[in-house]
Amino acid sequence: MSASLRIAQVTAVDDDLVEAVGRLVGQLSSSSPPPTAAELEAIVASPATMLLTAGEGPAIVGMLTLVVFRIPTGVRAWIEDVVVDESARGGGVGEALSRHALDLAAELGARTVELTSRPSRQAANRLYRRLGFQPRETNVYRYQSTRPAADGE
Ligand SMILES: CC(C)(COP(=O)(O)OP(=O)(O)OC[C@H]1O[C@@H](n2cnc3c(N)ncnc32)[C@H](O)[C@@H]1OP(=O)(O)O)[C@@H](O)C(=O)NCCC(=O)NCCS
Repeated sequence: MSASLRIAQVTAVDDDLVEAVGRLVGQLSSSSPPPTAAELEAIVASPATMLLTAGEGPAIVGMLTLVVFRIPTGVRAWIEDVVVDESARGGGVGEALSRHALDLAAELGARTVELTSRPSRQAANRLYRRLGFQPRETNVYRYQSTRPAADGE
């Protein structure tokens, strides 16, 4: 891992962030459009979502979103949208982002941190197991809404 790597929680949205997140989303999903500045501002404004970035020098080379929420059985957390720029992979950036998220989740009282990762994402699955994530026996379901997304969603 580069000594100049910095993991930070985003507190303000600027053009560099919009560009970087758009570039990274493009490397994560072919079906998701890049988020607008307003959509990123909504993530930053929400107490439940923490957008972490990995910076090397002036460049943003990775991101992760941590979601922390309270339900009747306790405080839970999810890690979502982890992606490291193709040019920076294999250098520990994904690990540094994930460790930072796990520390943050623990500080916020989360009892568990969950994520999903398709088996075909070999690097990601390897990383998560190395960090101590264990496969959980459950069925993961998805309901695909047929309604168009409302403004602000
Ligand atoms: C998954 C991802 C975030 C990891 O980021 P990274 O900065 O490369 O992570 P690290 O350098 O900390 O660790 C990468 C691990 O994957 C391994 N790896 C890299 N490429 C690999 C490949 N093609 N096949 C298998 N393992 C691979 C590395 O060897 C390393 O594991 P090891 O240290 O146990 O050997 C990055 O590969 C990525 O953005 N992938 C595309 C998007 C994605 O799959 N996101 C996860 C969604 S769940």
